[in-house]
Amino acid sequence: MSACASQGTGPARSLVAGEGFVDPIGFHDPTPTFSWKLAGGVKRQTAYRIEVNCGGDEQTQWDSGWVESDQSVLVPYGGKPFDSREQVTWRVSYKDQDGVKSGWSEPASIELGLLSKDDWQAKWIKAENAPEPKEEVVVYLRRAFEAKDQVASARLYVTARGMFDVLLNDQRVSDDHFANGWTSYRNRLDSLTYDVTDLVKKGDNQLQVMIANGWYCGRIGWAEQVGYYGKTPELLLQLEITFKDGSTQVITSDEDWQSALNGPVVSSSVYDGETYDARRVADGWAPVVANDDLGDVRMMPKPFPAVRQTQTIKAVSVSEPAPGKYVFDLGQNIVGWAKIHMPVEKDQTITIRYVEMLNQDGTIYTANLRSAKSTDTYTAAKSGKVTWQPHFTFHGFRYVELSGLPENAKPKKDWVTGVVLHSDLNRIGHFESSHDLLNQLQSNIVWGQRGNFVDIPTDCPQRDERLGWTGDAQVFCPTAMFNYDCHAFWKSWLGSMRDDQVEDGRIPHVIPDVLKRDAGSPGWMDAATIIPWAVYVRTGDKELLADNIGMMEKLVGYYRSKSKDGLITEINAFGDWLQPYAKETKGDTPAPLIATAYYAHSAQILADSLRVLGRDEEAKRYEDEANAVKSAFARHYFDADGKLQNAPETQTAYLLAIAFDLIPSDAKPKAVEHLVRLVHEADDHLRTGFLGTPFIVSELDKAGYPDLACKVLLKETYPSWFYSIHQGATTMWERWNSYSHEHGFGDAGMNSFNHYAYGAIGQWLYERLAGLAPDPANPGYKHFFIRPLVSAPIDHARAELDTPYGKAVSGWTKHNGVAKLEVIVPPNTTATVEFPDGRESQTLEPGKYHFELNVE
Ligand code: BGC
Repeated sequence: MSACASQGTGPARSLVAGEGFVDPIGFHDPTPTFSWKLAGGVKRQTAYRIEVNCGGDEQTQWDSGWVESDQSVLVPYGGKPFDSREQVTWRVSYKDQDGVKSGWSEPASIELGLLSKDDWQAKWIKAENAPEPKEEVVVYLRRAFEAKDQVASARLYVTARGMFDVLLNDQRVSDDHFANGWTSYRNRLDSLTYDVTDLVKKGDNQLQVMIANGWYCGRIGWAEQVGYYGKTPELLLQLEITFKDGSTQVITSDEDWQSALNGPVVSSSVYDGETYDARRVADGWAPVVANDDLGDVRMMPKPFPAVRQTQTIKAVSVSEPAPGKYVFDLGQNIVGWAKIHMPVEKDQTITIRYVEMLNQDGTIYTANLRSAKSTDTYTAAKSGKVTWQPHFTFHGFRYVELSGLPENAKPKKDWVTGVVLHSDLNRIGHFESSHDLLNQLQSNIVWGQRGNFVDIPTDCPQRDERLGWTGDAQVFCPTAMFNYDCHAFWKSWLGSMRDDQVEDGRIPHVIPDVLKRDAGSPGWMDAATIIPWAVYVRTGDKELLADNIGMMEKLVGYYRSKSKDGLITEINAFGDWLQPYAKETKGDTPAPLIATAYYAHSAQILADSLRVLGRDEEAKRYEDEANAVKSAFARHYFDADGKLQNAPETQTAYLLAIAFDLIPSDAKPKAVEHLVRLVHEADDHLRTGFLGTPFIVSELDKAGYPDLACKVLLKETYPSWFYSIHQGATTMWERWNSYSHEHGFGDAGMNSFNHYAYGAIGQWLYERLAGLAPDPANPGYKHFFIRPLVSAPIDHARAELDTPYGKAVSGWTKHNGVAKLEVIVPPNTTATVEFPDGRESQTLEPGKYHFELNVE
């Protein structure tokens, strides 16, 4: 039988290229990996065979042949690297546990984007007499062209220094927003590829592009900083048309384009919003400035999904707290913008303001936006009903205020719709329980993630910040990996982190760096080790570890350079940021203690990563280094009784020491007791900031105090997760008391109502409360643990995760002292159940299981 003929049944499904791409167009990786899921009911794969470009008139380009292996995830392509624009199909067959062959899968496809600068014939173009960047003017560009014949296929390749929006014959070429996204622009620019076959027609065509400052040259970073990467937005575009007769035509950005500065989008700014005047018609067309020097920045296809609209939300009420100011409540704090659909009068300007909270009197609370204006305006060209939404801005908001309406206006709820925008990642995980507040917490975590995954992981979406804060990202990463498939998202952002690493090894506080190399805070810069490892554990992606190992080494080298005999005694740090009741924002845990702890932790992760990569000798070296730092830490900071010395006793100091394994095992139980004492002294509340909070519940639980862990988690008084919920939170807040019914708003200087850092608790909800945890030794859920905390004072918890192998579940329900546990183990994996009732652990083959557990 020929290699290409189909045989057998139960074919593989869900074929993906690279980090979760389904039939991608404009793919970035010339040597991708392949992943597939086995048919339901199959236990194990014993061999696979992949074919690239099989059948048809083409010759098979790569045939892996039968490979005896149970690997069905991230299998490397072994053929000749793909070329730019190349279109390939691939399919897979496998043998199951009995050696029975499956039929071939349905074919999947990959089309490459432009991989090299040589692929670009286009020139960078920009407006002549471009205004100062601080004006945030939107530039209109256009070019008419004639397509000679019937179009067989057409691809648009486009990137910008700034954000772009392309119309072909008056239609948007995609649903993407804020493309090309935000990377370390001085090192890398991503391009987008769009299939525009259906938009190009024989005869006259018109390309129209808007380019805005965006993150590239708009106001971004501290104070009034504008134009950090450049002074004016620019476009690089290439439209490649293939006609039915096989001939081709290429339209590029070049001198043949025109630009205008007087289109209806007057200005648009990430922080400040958009000004739109429908009376304006771009007519001041002028030549463009073209430059065929593409620059020395790397250019590559965007390696993860763009920002898109993923949901719309109806307003639940409208009020008029002040004359002529109408406030629409969406009932949920979101990120995106408002779409208005309302009657307007000619020449009237509607002002649209966005806030997360209201003042007591129902008017909008804007103080926490700091200098971000977050205001859109729409000026009408004629009277009648209008539908409008902005283009190059986004807002963090629950409430939308409209003003500037005619005096007799009677606003209706449906005049305003909330449009939810974020990186369009796949939802893969769900956590639910019998506890309403826990469910609200999970909802708040997920909304916090959606609102802050706007092309990069941001600290907050509303004030004049919205930056890729590394500390926030590292604590939240494991939780994020449960809710959404963010493998490609993190991988890309880590690329920017490598690009922006300081020569001495420090990592800037924010990535992409716009704070002028301000860098080097322990717990923040360790995003460089913690995130690659966290992503590896949950995906099994070794290549990602290999990509980042150099960055990790440099970071550990920096710590070493700051240390003496294993200890770091002086360092600039954000500390245990925002610890409640602390003397200062940086918390009470001393920076040198935190720095030494993270030095050891990062060195350990580096050693573990090298081990995975088979670089044992180097691994050993870093392990020794980590151990030396751990010993120095233990000697300096702990007395013989496991009590903290040479530093104030804080929950976070104990937690870092315990979590990072910094104290010898005989002293550990004593240290745990001191931690427990501190927790009791705080009436079983946390006293931790950004760095300690992710560990308090998990480490108490691991150390044998699950009941106390639950108490801390389920507290309803300040400071606690539920406290914020009782104050009305629908997202995670920057502070537990960003607002309270009793005391009103917290310090407006730093008071975000959408800050995911404290959402890091989500990991524990999945891994322990419901009980579905990855196994670092068998990453990517090839093997995982079921560790349900059925003794928790709730009746039910359930985690469901679409792993790379298929759906995994751990869910339990308790009734009359007996817990029923449901477990689903996907094909080609195994899971070990750790029974809470003393029974010996059991390793499960793929399938669905039910257990009864005695809870007493
Ligand atoms: C950000 C944080 C960040 C912190 C560091 C704040 O302005 O919002 O979340 O981690 O600064 O100090």
